[in-house]
Amino acid sequence: MTFRILVADDEKNIRSGLAKSLEMDGYEVVQAEDGQEALRQMHKTEIDLILADLRMPKLPGDKLLKKVVSAYPAIPVIILTGHGTVDNAVEAMRDGAYDFVTKPVNLERLGLLVKRALSRRELARKHQELEAEISRLGKQKLGAEILGKSTIMHHVFELLKQVAPTKASVLITGESGTGKELVANAIHDQSPRNKAPLVKVHCAALSESLLETELFGHEKGAFTGAVNQRRGRFELADRGTIFLDEIGEINQSTQIKILRVLQEKSFERVGGESTISVDVRIIAATNRNLKEEVVAGRFREDLYYRLNVVNIHIPPLRERPEDIPLLAARFLKEFASENKREILGLEPKAAMALRSYSWPGNVRELRNIIESAVVMSKYSYLGPDDLPNYVTSRGNENDIRIKPGTPMTESEKLIIRANLNMFGGNKSRTSEALGIGRKTLHRKIKEYGLEAELDESSVSP
Ligand SMILES: Nc1ncnc2c1ncn2[C@@H]1O[C@H](COP(=O)(O)OP(=O)(O)OP(=O)(O)O)[C@@H](O)[C@H]1O
Ligand SMILES: [Mg+2]
Repeated sequence: MTFRILVADDEKNIRSGLAKSLEMDGYEVVQAEDGQEALRQMHKTEIDLILADLRMPKLPGDKLLKKVVSAYPAIPVIILTGHGTVDNAVEAMRDGAYDFVTKPVNLERLGLLVKRALSRRELARKHQELEAEISRLGKQKLGAEILGKSTIMHHVFELLKQVAPTKASVLITGESGTGKELVANAIHDQSPRNKAPLVKVHCAALSESLLETELFGHEKGAFTGAVNQRRGRFELADRGTIFLDEIGEINQSTQIKILRVLQEKSFERVGGESTISVDVRIIAATNRNLKEEVVAGRFREDLYYRLNVVNIHIPPLRERPEDIPLLAARFLKEFASENKREILGLEPKAAMALRSYSWPGNVRELRNIIESAVVMSKYSYLGPDDLPNYVTSRGNENDIRIKPGTPMTESEKLIIRANLNMFGGNKSRTSEALGIGRKTLHRKIKEYGLEAELDESSVSP
């Protein structure tokens, strides 16, 4: 997918210089010579990011920024500023600019900034899509966006209803794909904080130092590259909720800092002295057994108890097969309408196969399988042929038997091998299904000498 960037500057040379450099980086560029022209372009075409000069005729950059922030809040704006106007640029940051760069523009730094801003935009977009989906599902089902009719899920709903209006920290546990994020969304939406943002942080996706600056922000000059002050996610979540996804992955020093936010409701930005107070509710999620992490000394016990004031555990899909037909029907309807396919339902054989499969990837896997079945199917009812082989063939070589007394390492090897088989050697899917990181999976494949077997089967990422 190509991103389209709007460059608004009244100086032709600067405009075309920036355009050329961005085009070399593979972006599509639209130019505007003043603020009004920029707005016109925005209405006309879909823009992913804006570079705007502060001083422009007709509509200066700061005014343009305000209009963009209110009309297109998801589109990041980077302000270009001359020597004399750095103060104004800082003000623009306060008004919602993503960042600013001073002229003459350092193209390398601009390139990095653009890349980062766009990836943030992608996240925002994905988030929006999810929100739209939830509200669509919600409308069809009177606000119950998390589907489930099993007794276990009813317990989850009860708990959710009880805890949502409070400020209690919630720890959501469950295997990958069980709906932890969905539950986090629902808690926030049903809480009095729902007018303020729900800020999500994917703790495993960021390196240690990046995670700290993401969470707490940093002061200008806190480290090389910290050219501006930046507010962290805890500040952005003020009066709202912060969702710390994959909390089990954070290191000791970040654990201490988060503990302090929980205890004192305050923190300092990285490289900063002044203490910032926030009113934030914390929801955390993990697919690890945090208690075990505590016992193993990898996770602080005091933090564990603070996060785990209320625990919502979402059981794996295989433990609540009653939910499968309901979920399958919902996803089928959703994808049929999205792809404009006239698919009415499932053949009984296909429905049976879905019910007896073990769903290592849980609801996410079910959703994906239904989506591809809907797209590929030629008939108005999905049959077993529309489902992947490993779903329909039961009792195949992927079923493993581990007798009591088998050493842990041997059991682990069997499990990993079976999963690799099942996913055709695809390591991403395997690590996801097993709920372990890709690095860990790689290490274990080496450790157990499974590489040779992998080479024989199909090779995938
Ligand atoms: N009970 C449910 N009803 C409807 N959709 C569900 C349900 N549970 C999960 N889903 C859907 O399954 C997918 C995975 O859910 P989600 O991202 O919340 O899982 P997760 O537990 O956060 O997974 P991971 O640990 O991998 O991050 C999403 O598309 C979500 O909408
Ligand atoms: Mg998740």
